[in-house]
Amino acid sequence: KDGDSQKVILDINKKAALFYHEILKKPEGEKALSYLKARGITEETMEIFKLGYAPDNWESLKSFMLANDMPIDYLLKSGLLRKSEKTGNYFDLFRQRIIFPIFKYNGDIVALGGRVLDDSLPKYLNSPETEIFSKRNNLYGLFQAKDAIREANEVLLVEGYVDCIKLYQAGIKNVVASLGTAFTPEQARLLARYAEKVLILYDGDEAGQKSALKAGEILHAEKLQVYVVLLPGGKDPDEYIDLVGKEDFLTFIQNNKISYIEFKIDRYIKNRNALYLEDKIKIINSIKPDISGLESEIARDYYIKILAQKLQLEENLVYRELNRTYRPKT
Ligand code: UTP
Ligand code: MN
Ligand code: MN
Ligand code: MN
Ligand code: MN
Repeated sequence: KDGDSQKVILDINKKAALFYHEILKKPEGEKALSYLKARGITEETMEIFKLGYAPDNWESLKSFMLANDMPIDYLLKSGLLRKSEKTGNYFDLFRQRIIFPIFKYNGDIVALGGRVLDDSLPKYLNSPETEIFSKRNNLYGLFQAKDAIREANEVLLVEGYVDCIKLYQAGIKNVVASLGTAFTPEQARLLARYAEKVLILYDGDEAGQKSALKAGEILHAEKLQVYVVLLPGGKDPDEYIDLVGKEDFLTFIQNNKISYIEFKIDRYIKNRNALYLEDKIKIINSIKPDISGLESEIARDYYIKILAQKLQLEENLVYRELNRTYRPKT
């Protein structure tokens, strides 16, 4: 029974994505098409990600779906149509927005994301949580990227839809986006099925760096090898690759990636203006769970050495403060 319901909602999402996708090629979609082109997205990429446009109309999807005999209760369940409390009328969730279909790893379209064409708010709107979609279990771009991720044994994790699309288009295909929400352990376990290494490439602004620390913690706890790159000038990957091009982008990453633990140490040090002994001890204790959670003694020794160097302390002192026993997190 549940399976049947899920099938109907999946079918609605697929039909809606294709409906919006086709509009990009019609006169109604002209504005959206030029918006995407102005952002450097090619028509080939629009095909791969099935980008679309929801026009300036409260009932375009509704009319299409009802004309195709899709049942109204399921249309409401999908979240793509809504019911007005005042009038009892049904209307489209997405209007005047670029549509980014969200694919599950197996290619099913489970939700849609929509971006405004100007700077009105909210910038992005997503399908609500439904029987077939929960944000915490999905990663944008995984379906398109999964073979490249397996091959590289590494995945690049970015924040935004457009970041993901632009890197993919540049030939950096092992990339997924975390759907804007807080990164979850479920998403980490999903990635662990495809690769051992994760490179976090969040926006270079303060918000992005804060989220990078949290995502890193979760990925590290799931036993992935985690690296972080801090992009210059507060830029996001989309802006930075536009600015410097693919080759320099890759070179920058190679030269600037640091392990998650180093990233964390650096951030703690940066956030305290003076380093008194008491500050150093606090930092050591904040890093302690990350280091004592490492299975390999070589790795633990390595990070203790780095921590000691960065804090300008005798290695021995740091060893003693940390207590070198292996304490797996449970
Ligand atoms: P950003 O604010 O960094 O947007 O949010 P962006 O991806 O750089 O947007 P562009 O380049 O202007 O198009 C990062 C991600 O957070 C989610 C989206 O998935 C977005 O890509 N987000 C952001 C939302 O879900 N809702 C919002 O209102 C804003
Ligand atoms: Mn097409
Ligand atoms: Mn941001
Ligand atoms: Mn961004
Ligand atoms: Mn951006």
